[in-house]
Amino acid sequence: MGLLSTKSMAVLMDEAGAEGEGSLKRALGATNLTLLGIGAIIGAGIFVLTGTAAAQYAGPAVVFSFILSGIACLFAGLCYAEFASMIPIAGSAYTYAYSTLGELLAWIIGWDLILEYLFGAATVAVGWSGYFTALMNDIGIHIPAALANAPLSVTGGWHLHPTGALINLPALVLAGLMTALLVVGIKESANFNNIIVFVKVAIVLLVIGFGFAYVNAQNWHPFVPPNTGEWGVFGWSGVIRGAGVIFFAYIGFDAVSTTAQEARNPQKDMPIGILGSLGICTLLYILMALVMTGLAHYTDLNVAFPVYAAIEKAGPGLAWLKEIVNIGAILGLASVVLVMLMGQPRIFFSMARDGLLPPVFGKVHPRFKTPYVTTILTGTVAAIVAGLFPIQLLGELVNIGTLLAFAIVCAGVIVLRRTRPDLHRPFRTPFVPVVPLLGIFCCVGLMAGLPIDTWIRLFVWLLIGLVIYFSYGRFHSRLQQRIDTPSAAAAD
Ligand code: ALA
Repeated sequence: MGLLSTKSMAVLMDEAGAEGEGSLKRALGATNLTLLGIGAIIGAGIFVLTGTAAAQYAGPAVVFSFILSGIACLFAGLCYAEFASMIPIAGSAYTYAYSTLGELLAWIIGWDLILEYLFGAATVAVGWSGYFTALMNDIGIHIPAALANAPLSVTGGWHLHPTGALINLPALVLAGLMTALLVVGIKESANFNNIIVFVKVAIVLLVIGFGFAYVNAQNWHPFVPPNTGEWGVFGWSGVIRGAGVIFFAYIGFDAVSTTAQEARNPQKDMPIGILGSLGICTLLYILMALVMTGLAHYTDLNVAFPVYAAIEKAGPGLAWLKEIVNIGAILGLASVVLVMLMGQPRIFFSMARDGLLPPVFGKVHPRFKTPYVTTILTGTVAAIVAGLFPIQLLGELVNIGTLLAFAIVCAGVIVLRRTRPDLHRPFRTPFVPVVPLLGIFCCVGLMAGLPIDTWIRLFVWLLIGLVIYFSYGRFHSRLQQRIDTPSAAAAD
């Protein structure tokens, strides 16, 4: 009983409007939100994975992979924009599911979002560690390999074994530093993020602007390298597999929606933040992929620093840009970790307010007005995960978790249009149900391309979540209490 009960709009609106003691601070405008989105989006995807996707799967046609993945994200982004403007609450997809698909699915999605945000932060921290260690090396500071690599690796899907390294210390330290910043304040974090975003976008524009002049058009021939005979290795199937890999590059536009409760005018600014950041990044990615595959042959891009490698191939004319790109990647990836670590506690915050997690998860710092308990918890776990596990394992989990969340948000739009057509929607997803259905189709398609082990890990993760729900959340849920206490329900 009650697993399908949904949270009423009246209650959600009350929560969205609540101010004062225990509430988050409304400090973010449209520009801040767009910059937050860009801060979360541009990161390891473009700085690391473009090289892998071009060299192993798509060649120069990785440009098409970016377009395909961008279209899938656009469908999901349009659905997020409708919800975020209508239900401006910190919980993002979790809250949307609660109001449309019921408590059980809401819990599942909340639990699933840990894969996107907490594990996403850890994944990018590991990518950051690679760039940071290389830069330190360039300036003569040698970080021993045993202190800059994952001590555990995975073979055969499940078998964890020691690599000989002790810990990935830079990744751990970065997650710790970003956590400290987040505890101090949303405004301070957003300001820090804004500065980095300007640097990051400026560097991407420099690479695109100056890089185009050095492109060797020969590198673009053939633009779609012929398939090797194996599905997903070049040819059009390679473009599709490439899209699955570089999907990671787009993750983050939805992080904007987790700060809805801190937006000054969420009805108008949420869609701008979500769709603006997604649009800007899609354009930058397509141009960047064109330049990178034009500067270097795609076979030369299979390295941990493909942007740097591409510039190196351009010869002495672009040498001045190499270190700038390295610094840009280091700052850029740090800001992704920041925004991911910002998103997770806000989802926990919403779940605690609903009674599905213990009340301590909903505590707001009296002075800083930040959800400090969950921020510290998230940051600590992310730091440990980043310190221990390899990037591929983490990245695949992040992709599958995020795709599941996107698909559920798309489904939620269709459901809510049917169950509550009367609600005021400041932003309306166009062509419903076609756009959400296409969103679901694309997300499930990209999930299908991921390895079976990743699917199994997702199910194990969700199973753990269900055990927690049925042993805690179910009995403490505020919604269930309202249902059991009709007078409270009537007040809703
Ligand atoms: N989109 C983010 C990145 O590429 C997660 O790092």
